[in-house]
Amino acid sequence: MHNLELPDYREQSPQVRQRFQEIYSRPVILSIRDLTRTFSSSKGTITALRNIRFDAHRREFICVIGASGCGKSTLIRILAGLIEPSSGAALLDGEPILKPGPDRGMVFQEYTLFPWLTVKRNVMFGLQMAGHAFHLAETEALQWIELVGLEKFAEHYPHQLSGGMKQRVAIARSLANKPRILLMDEPFGALDAQTRSHMQAHLLQIWRSLDVTVFFITHDLDEAVYLSDRVLVLKPHPGEVLEVVENPVPRPRSPEQLLTPEFLAVKKHLEDLIHPPEKEEPIRLTSLRMTDVGDDPE
Ligand SMILES: Nc1ncnc2c1ncn2[C@@H]1O[C@H](COP(=O)(O)OP(=O)(O)OP(=O)(O)O)[C@@H](O)[C@H]1O
Ligand SMILES: [Mg+2]
Repeated sequence: MHNLELPDYREQSPQVRQRFQEIYSRPVILSIRDLTRTFSSSKGTITALRNIRFDAHRREFICVIGASGCGKSTLIRILAGLIEPSSGAALLDGEPILKPGPDRGMVFQEYTLFPWLTVKRNVMFGLQMAGHAFHLAETEALQWIELVGLEKFAEHYPHQLSGGMKQRVAIARSLANKPRILLMDEPFGALDAQTRSHMQAHLLQIWRSLDVTVFFITHDLDEAVYLSDRVLVLKPHPGEVLEVVENPVPRPRSPEQLLTPEFLAVKKHLEDLIHPPEKEEPIRLTSLRMTDVGDDPE
């Protein structure tokens, strides 16, 4: 890939410019304003996030990438209302996010379904908590289950499902309350490559059919380019915005695009941001002896 002559991903065609003009003409749904978060422990204070500024527009698909420990999960937990910022604020539709709420759906990497409830009851749970009567919650839940293609599994329990199916249920559950924004923290990270690619295509289909903004954390650059409108790139220690990359790959997306020059060009740019070539140092391995002289296995 590095030896290929790739186009400059910044050279946008008129179609791409038009696509972004259309996106920026939509209202800002999520506004992250000078957000800083520190953690204190006996060993000192860590600044996990510093002065993060970012606006996401309605129906945008944002991917967030950055080295491990750069504060991605901290950011999404603040957006979910699970933790508070140390300073600055995150606003959803102009209102500061102070606690969890049904206007935000959340999907984590770990499977978080209630193991003692069926698929249907898992999806119904949030609806019933929000005050829906049983039958209404059931009807709604079955529609969401159908949307993620699991209608035959509505009466199954989580342990009877594959990893990909569990994440489909988690997506159905998080969408059932009709959130304004879907927060996803490496939701496909634990899936095998083939299931992951199915889930990506499926998520894009769902996103296109709904009025929902997606904020999606990933380590996988192919995934970021395949899914996103823009990619928020964070740098670690402290976590700061390194760059916001406009993804020029046209929509609708298909897996064949993973090898097009424009896909590879934007992926290469993201790779260079995350692993700057000039700073790469060889990993030094200390030589460890696992056996003493004379102990060598035959
Ligand atoms: N509850 C906490 N208490 C203390 N430090 C924390 C806490 N949560 C996160 N941190 C620290 O904040 C920094 C960012 O962590 P975070 O989990 O947000 O990173 P990340 O980008 O999601 O990493 P990964 O890609 O490995 O999931 C890390 O240095 C981490 O140790
Ligand atoms: Mg994380």
